[in-house]
Amino acid sequence: MKIGIHKNPGSYGDSWIQYCEENDIPYKLVNCYDSDIVTQLNDCNGLMWHWNQNDYKAALFARQLTLSLEKKGVKVFPDVGTGWHHNDKVGQKYLLESVNAPLVKSYVFYSKKEALAWLHTTTFPKVFKLRGGASSVNVRLVTTKQQGKVLINKAFGKGFLHINRFYRFKDRVRLFKLEKDKKNARGILSGLVRIFFPTEVEKFSHREKGYIYFQDFIPGNKFDTRLVVIGNRCFGLIRYCRDGDFRASGSNVKDYDPKLLDKKCVKIAFDVTKKLNAQSLAFDFIWDSDCPKIVEISYCFGLQEANSTNCVGYWDADLNWFTPVNPTYFMIEDFIKKLK
Ligand SMILES: Nc1ncnc2c1ncn2[C@@H]1O[C@H](COP(=O)(O)OP(=O)(O)O)[C@@H](O)[C@H]1O
Ligand SMILES: [Mg+2]
Repeated sequence: MKIGIHKNPGSYGDSWIQYCEENDIPYKLVNCYDSDIVTQLNDCNGLMWHWNQNDYKAALFARQLTLSLEKKGVKVFPDVGTGWHHNDKVGQKYLLESVNAPLVKSYVFYSKKEALAWLHTTTFPKVFKLRGGASSVNVRLVTTKQQGKVLINKAFGKGFLHINRFYRFKDRVRLFKLEKDKKNARGILSGLVRIFFPTEVEKFSHREKGYIYFQDFIPGNKFDTRLVVIGNRCFGLIRYCRDGDFRASGSNVKDYDPKLLDKKCVKIAFDVTKKLNAQSLAFDFIWDSDCPKIVEISYCFGLQEANSTNCVGYWDADLNWFTPVNPTYFMIEDFIKKLK
């Protein structure tokens, strides 16, 4: 057994390497961006590569590489079922509908005519989202038909930038007010610079256009529930909404008390992960009266949020409680079991 690990400092790869060192697991460092990555893996039966939504290069080929390696007999983390829908809320809509998961009612249109026809018959508010993005940057409330029309015209006109730069800057100012430290001060500065000078990711990302995606707005949620399932373990936190806003993701106001995590959500998270046969899945839940509803899923998640220091323990599918939580170690432990 030998695992290829893609090295990218700051990614989950750091702790996967550490795990292999600590446990004498044979591994080698590989570079998934090399043209000969398939032959680099000739002496490996597994590949672990943490690619995320900010990686526009990975978005070009990670899914294709993963499927191809699976045909070669190389197991991958994230495997096809775990990773194909990453950062793709439109893909997740079809997927979650197909397995009868409780996704918030969602709508997608691929023509202006159909989108406008729907707009005239629907109720407001609705939530508009781009298919990609994190920390709520591409999520907006639409309170009137007129606002909906403006968005539809843009979606089928010049399209949307990959990231809403003004919203990002405003949110950085909010984070600084929340905690006046050096990191958040740097955040404001870079957010300001990036209004005028796009990042490499933005420069190379396509404009989002040719589709439009909405969800029913579920009112009254003061927080969302972020649960992560890795194998037979579920842990998480709640994230409070920004003041005067319906969006929780990226607010950085969190509570890790497990008593705040409702067992109904835990059960759904386990059920859906099992149906999708996913190695790792993070869920964002909100409440529609007393029914938990999913707003999005993702195979990876911010370790600054769901980590071993803050998440004190996890449940298994029978709701037994265990400690401690170490998400990246859970991933590699499960992966090694499958390889052996
Ligand atoms: N349909 C909805 N109704 C009410 N609140 C929502 C809805 N969808 C998302 N939210 C809120 O907005 C936040 C961001 O939405 P989400 O789809 O998770 O996008 P992101 O990828 O930016 O995290 C969520 O954390 C939740 O608090
Ligand atoms: Mg989210």
